[in-house]
Amino acid sequence: MTDASRSPRDSITEKTEIVLPQYANAIGTAFGGTIMSWIDVCAAVTAQRHCGRVAVTASVDALEFRAPIRQGDVVILRSWMNAVFGTSMEVECLVEKEDTATGERVRCADALLTFVNIGDDGRPCAVPPLRLETEEDRQNAAEAMERREQRLARKKAKRA
Ligand SMILES: CC(C)(COP(=O)(O)OP(=O)(O)OC[C@H]1O[C@@H](n2cnc3c(N)ncnc32)[C@H](O)[C@@H]1OP(=O)(O)O)[C@@H](O)C(=O)NCCC(=O)NCCS
Repeated sequence: MTDASRSPRDSITEKTEIVLPQYANAIGTAFGGTIMSWIDVCAAVTAQRHCGRVAVTASVDALEFRAPIRQGDVVILRSWMNAVFGTSMEVECLVEKEDTATGERVRCADALLTFVNIGDDGRPCAVPPLRLETEEDRQNAAEAMERREQRLARKKAKRA
């Protein structure tokens, strides 16, 4: 029998950008929406690598901008799978800026995104299992499971 599971390392995605003038506002820092779009693309590639098919963004939470990103900065995004549920999965994305002279990196933003795996019929379908190999993998998955409960409770409360 073949093992359909994949480890978090199988779908890690890195994306590098430069903050060009069209991505900056009047005071020379990057538009938050541009960074959000880069996060969504990077995390979507992780989800799609894990599932081997298209996944759509269901929700984004815990997005925090921690340090300004300025025009001309080199920005590195890195995303990885935290957990799979039924038809959905949690992907985390970290955004850093890099001083290319020294290699020093500063954390500027991070976010947690939920993607839903979409089948050929356009409906949600089961996500392949995530193989948890390290203590960090298991911790990430346990924390993601707690967040899922809170996330779905918030969604339910909004509807009420
Ligand atoms: C996300 C979407 C596929 C969910 O479809 P749905 O018909 O509500 O399907 P379900 O209720 O069966 O939920 C499917 C999965 O999504 C999860 N989900 C739905 N809404 C969610 C939310 N707001 N946050 C986190 N997970 C959510 C469910 O928990 C379920 O996951 P599970 O199987 O792991 O438990 C649907 O709402 C959709 O297509 N939204 C638009 C997505 C999109 O276009 N994104 C791009 C940005 S425009």
